[in-house]
Amino acid sequence: MDNDNDTGQEFEPRGVQAIDRPLDMLLKDHNLVRKLADKWLNSDDIDIKKQCARQILQGLHTHSRVEESVFYPDVRDIDPAMIAHFEQEHLKVDDLLATLQGMTLDEPQADRLMRELITATLRHIEQEEKEFFPKLERAHMDMAPIGLEMAAFEANLIHMQAQVSDRARK
Ligand SMILES: [Fe+2]
Ligand SMILES: [Fe+2]
Repeated sequence: MDNDNDTGQEFEPRGVQAIDRPLDMLLKDHNLVRKLADKWLNSDDIDIKKQCARQILQGLHTHSRVEESVFYPDVRDIDPAMIAHFEQEHLKVDDLLATLQGMTLDEPQADRLMRELITATLRHIEQEEKEFFPKLERAHMDMAPIGLEMAAFEANLIHMQAQVSDRARK
């Protein structure tokens, strides 16, 4: 992420302490999305809105890949129908993400799509937290291996994204 776009709320690589608690990792992402969404919704400054939007798009992209590739498959048995529902919602959000990533983010159409993305995302993360996480906690699974797998997947993804943007700059 460009330093000149820094709003002090980056999606950072994980601290060591959270790796064996995957739900904490996901909650941290959710709370950051909430904070950025709030800032986006309550700001009139076009530059701040664009910075927030970029951070939301990048953070959500990484968060969704980790959930789809590692978290959802590992916990699917707890409630397969609910996980299928979450995966459907991700597809809708991914469409919006892809469209927004190709836009300059200061046009009225982008504003409308960002609002749609934020509404869908806030509802989705609320449902993950309120309806799924408690079920998962009651199942008393060993979460440490899932957390390690998620952290490794995410580190690899961020590394690959950095390589791609490095190459694009050259
Ligand atoms: Fe999700
Ligand atoms: Fe999530």
